Amino acid sequence: MRTVAVISRKGGSGKSTVALHLALAAFLRGRRVWVADTDAQRSASQVLKGRKGPGPQLAETTGPKLFALQVSCQRAGAALMVIDTPAVVEEEICHAIVAADFRLMVIRPTFLDLIAAIQTTEIARRLRKPLLAVLNQAPSPRAGVEAPAVKRSLEALGLMRVQVVPTILRARAGYQSAFETGRSVEEFDPPIEAGREVGDLWAFVETFVFGRTKSDVAQNLQNVGVEP
Ligand SMILES: Nc1ncnc2c1ncn2[C@@H]1O[C@H](COP(=O)(O)OP(=O)(O)OP(=O)(O)O)[C@@H](O)[C@H]1O
Ligand SMILES: [Mg+2]
Repeated sequence: MRTVAVISRKGGSGKSTVALHLALAAFLRGRRVWVADTDAQRSASQVLKGRKGPGPQLAETTGPKLFALQVSCQRAGAALMVIDTPAVVEEEICHAIVAADFRLMVIRPTFLDLIAAIQTTEIARRLRKPLLAVLNQAPSPRAGVEAPAVKRSLEALGLMRVQVVPTILRARAGYQSAFETGRSVEEFDPPIEAGREVGDLWAFVETFVFGRTKSDVAQNLQNVGVEP
């Protein structure tokens, strides 16, 4: 079993949205998935409880209980656990960072999110754990040109030596309406653009998380210049 933690010190950046979409993406492709909701606000839980039909399993938990949960999920045949985390409770974020094989920091292309990204990155570096970032709620490019805020954010993350995943998640209403029925944006018929984004993001994360051994993941991160 592999574990993905979705983290950010910034509230509302899209942690629950990204965590659930990764979990649903894996589920829709046939993997056995658990969502570990460690945020007392229980946003991820609310969405999954509103889902009709089969979906990822849900565990409402806290950071200190993650290891025991991982053991029981592994025994139950889980292939993937996705941890949703709170923005402000540093202890919870630390537990999730340590428990995970792959950590994804969610940030919007804004000044305040970038400040929070510095704080999130510092926590991970203190724990000597690598992380990658995904830009979320980004404006769509106009005539193929990225908005200045997106360019500035990518530059800032480069200066922080944070590797950014190749898919940018755009601000799209589908991400909000999908959760009204506990769905992924990949489950819309006809397909919507957001679904393609999530498919691309999952393809990257899946290769990273399942396509290599744990030590290879660490090696790859070093190869691309991400500090532990
Ligand atoms: N790419 C997107 N496009 C449009 N809306 C989005 C997108 N991502 C997230 N949202 C919306 O932004 C709001 C915050 O998202 P979400 O709850 O996932 O953030 P969070 O980081 O988990 O927040 P918290 O810190 O409160 O846990 C929600 O209303 C969500 O539907
Ligand atoms: Mg949340």
